[in-house]
Amino acid sequence: MSKKAEPRHLILPTVVVPPHPVWPSLSSEEKTALKTRIKALLQEKDAVLVAHYYTSADLQELAEESGGCVADSLEMARFGHEHPAATLVVAGVRFMGETAKILNIEKRVLMPDPGATCSLDEACPAELFSAFCDQYPDHTVVVYANTSAAVKARSDWVVTSGIALALARHLAARGEKILWAPDRHLGHYVQEQSGAEMVFWPGSCVVHEEFRAVALERLRRIHPQAAVLVHPESPAQVIAQADVVGSTTALIEAVVRLPNQEFIVATDKGIFSKMRQSAPGKVLLEAPTVGEGATCQSCASCPWMGMNSLQNLLTVLETGSNEILVPPELAAKALVPIRRMLDFARQLQG
Ligand code: 13P
Ligand code: SF4
Repeated sequence: MSKKAEPRHLILPTVVVPPHPVWPSLSSEEKTALKTRIKALLQEKDAVLVAHYYTSADLQELAEESGGCVADSLEMARFGHEHPAATLVVAGVRFMGETAKILNIEKRVLMPDPGATCSLDEACPAELFSAFCDQYPDHTVVVYANTSAAVKARSDWVVTSGIALALARHLAARGEKILWAPDRHLGHYVQEQSGAEMVFWPGSCVVHEEFRAVALERLRRIHPQAAVLVHPESPAQVIAQADVVGSTTALIEAVVRLPNQEFIVATDKGIFSKMRQSAPGKVLLEAPTVGEGATCQSCASCPWMGMNSLQNLLTVLETGSNEILVPPELAAKALVPIRRMLDFARQLQG
């Protein structure tokens, strides 16, 4: 029987959620012109675009058309590391750019907006986290990739949602106790599935936190044939209703693989463009983010991912601005658990 420990005396900083950016709309001619210019600059500057599934459909298409990649956070790290380009342009959130820099210290890493952060990262400041770790010296420290370089540097392992459960099982089998940060929902899911003895940092993702279990039950009754796909940053009562729980990649694969024609999707709706491209004709429904009388803040669209656009991507390529830098000593420390993550993921693939 596994045991849960509760965090002692932790008061996390308040995260201010910015409004979702609204970009000036572009005619299709303007869009094509922008994309053509960006593709030419990518070539000219020996740069490759690495984008997350939550960025806009335009950015995702551009990444694919220009020989870059659209992926989950694990694959973004791996792709950038293995690609020979001298410059990585990361369209996502800050931790993705920092991970790219740490893994490729000799490369230039640019981001359309380095202010694109993440509620998990913001609510896990390194000093407070380090003091928390000091309270559990006999625990293996496992941190989600959605953290700062300094938090990674204090950890034993970095994980993404793609390998979180496999790693917890691996560590539990070795008899290790786990300190898990910063996403408490992912942590509790992993704990329940693996039986590992764990203590949790009580952070959460503002986007996934908003999915509502009761409203989801209602939607399922209206669409009884729909498969429910849930990212594990969602609350436990939402995860409990899932047919598939997994990383963004796992959810896209499920839409292709499962025979269902309808899907209710509990993750950022940016993922819908890849799902539609991979499984045309299937019906995708947004999981509800508002309960009775409540309103949503993010409404299933990460405001920080929304800070990436064709317009600011063009600007960074033209000016070389927004370079992501990580102090070399810190990068060397954070590299150790990130490398462990990539090695572990490689072993899982066999
Ligand atoms: P994935 O690694 O599953 O793409 O998740 C990253 C993320 O930030 C989800 O909110
Ligand atoms: Fe962070 Fe949530 Fe946005 Fe992912 S969706 S980047 S976890 S705030």
